[in-house]
Amino acid sequence: MTEQELAFTQDELDEIERIKAKFPTNKAATLRVLWVAQEKYGHVKPEVQNLVADTLDLPRSHVHGVASFYTQYYKEETGTYVLDVCTCLSCQVCGGYDILHHLEDELGIKAGETTEDGMFTIQEVECLGACGYAPMLQVTNGVYANNLTKEKVDKLIENLRKGKKPEFESMVMRQNEKRKKELSQ
Ligand code: FES
Repeated sequence: MTEQELAFTQDELDEIERIKAKFPTNKAATLRVLWVAQEKYGHVKPEVQNLVADTLDLPRSHVHGVASFYTQYYKEETGTYVLDVCTCLSCQVCGGYDILHHLEDELGIKAGETTEDGMFTIQEVECLGACGYAPMLQVTNGVYANNLTKEKVDKLIENLRKGKKPEFESMVMRQNEKRKKELSQ
């Protein structure tokens, strides 16, 4: 899809108006509107960032700066499942790199890459606020898989291939879901 073909639908524009109304400036609504764009396109590549900037009447450099700062925004097309492996301090001390490297070996890709079948993308990320459950990873900005071992990682991959996600939802995730609902009202 070319940049010229990208556009929000009227429903999405209405949602964006509702989001804007909850913030003092358009700039402050950037995170939420990037999220709307990512839910629509599955990523926020530069051309999608431009759409967000133009819709909010903001400099494209601002939106690019915000999108590039957060690993939660996908700057490339991703696999069906994005596995965010935390290697920040607590997870690192508890074997986060062993988990990351095991995952890389099992899937035959490196962090930042997507499997050929388009099923998995691995990302190495900073702290996801679940240090007490280290080492952990997040599945596609959603559920967390905690207290990981290599065996648990193998099981997780096997389950994801069958479309079965881990059931544990972190408090952070529940708060995000709650905020998302509030903003859509
Ligand atoms: S260090 Fe991994 S969740 Fe905080």
